[in-house]
Amino acid sequence: MKRIAVLTTGGDAPGMNPAIRSVVRYGIKNGLEVMGVSRGWLGLINEDIKVMDHRSVSGIINQGGTILKTARCQDFFLKEGQERAYNTIKKYAIDGLVVIGGNGSFAAAHAFYKNFKVPSIGIAASIDNDVNGIDVTIGADTAINTALDAIDKIRDTATSMERIFVVEVMGRDCGFIALTVALAGGCEEVMIPERKIDLEEICQDIVEGNLKGKISWIIVVAEGAGNAEDICRKITEMTSLETRAVVLGHVQRGGRPTAFSRDLALNLGKAAVDSLLKGETDKAVGLCCNKITLVDFETAIQKKELKIMHMCQLIRDLS
Ligand code: F6P
Repeated sequence: MKRIAVLTTGGDAPGMNPAIRSVVRYGIKNGLEVMGVSRGWLGLINEDIKVMDHRSVSGIINQGGTILKTARCQDFFLKEGQERAYNTIKKYAIDGLVVIGGNGSFAAAHAFYKNFKVPSIGIAASIDNDVNGIDVTIGADTAINTALDAIDKIRDTATSMERIFVVEVMGRDCGFIALTVALAGGCEEVMIPERKIDLEEICQDIVEGNLKGKISWIIVVAEGAGNAEDICRKITEMTSLETRAVVLGHVQRGGRPTAFSRDLALNLGKAAVDSLLKGETDKAVGLCCNKITLVDFETAIQKKELKIMHMCQLIRDLS
């Protein structure tokens, strides 16, 4: 193996930059030439690719986002898109790919591997922490701390003004952020895509709590489970109490990666290069039971089971 390429695809996650830094520097140290692809699969399709040197990744270890840029690319799921990407790989004599992204990125990498057999190793990076078989993805720790910081601040005003807040966090298909911050933020209730919850029941609890003197509430809702404005309106209709909606949105995707996200990224970058050098392919590297492990893409793209009932019960028991 002489030349590899690295790309970031799907939603960016804080820690992607340290992962790129690690792949580039560790790759070079091990005698490889490393190329950086811009905008993920789109860059491979459009031949948007350049050689990375040691200095090209200077000063990025503490930056959120990705210097390689990223995109969601539907064309890559089409045969023609993959063929064009493969032409770029042949033209630049790329012997292996490092794909930094989440489960959607790995699904694309897996399909590409099946069709063109280009050795590929994924690095699990997503704020959603939704890669199956992997404990924690790069960026998840940073995102939950960003959301938690906001919830702590909302708590101050919620308590002071005795109001009900509905805070919408990211997670279209996955309740990881919502569950984690609801528990860590001492929130009263959580709504996630994986579990249907009856708003009437929540309102009943609010009314009962209200009678006992519990006036302020924070309900966390994952974006895939509902819309904060709608939920507020319904709660006000059912309880006649004052509500406020907060949508945290893309704030959760940005910012300086935490020490945990960075160290994970730096270790996984090295592990990805080592794996390619050992001849591994069609797999992702990630932390599993606190050890860096390889997980087949086939497994990584399955639906990840969260400890939902346990978390939801604990949130309610402790509220
Ligand atoms: O990257 C994951 C994620 O942040 C999800 O939590 C969210 O639903 C989605 O991306 C938003 O994607 P986009 O920025 O493309 O709207």
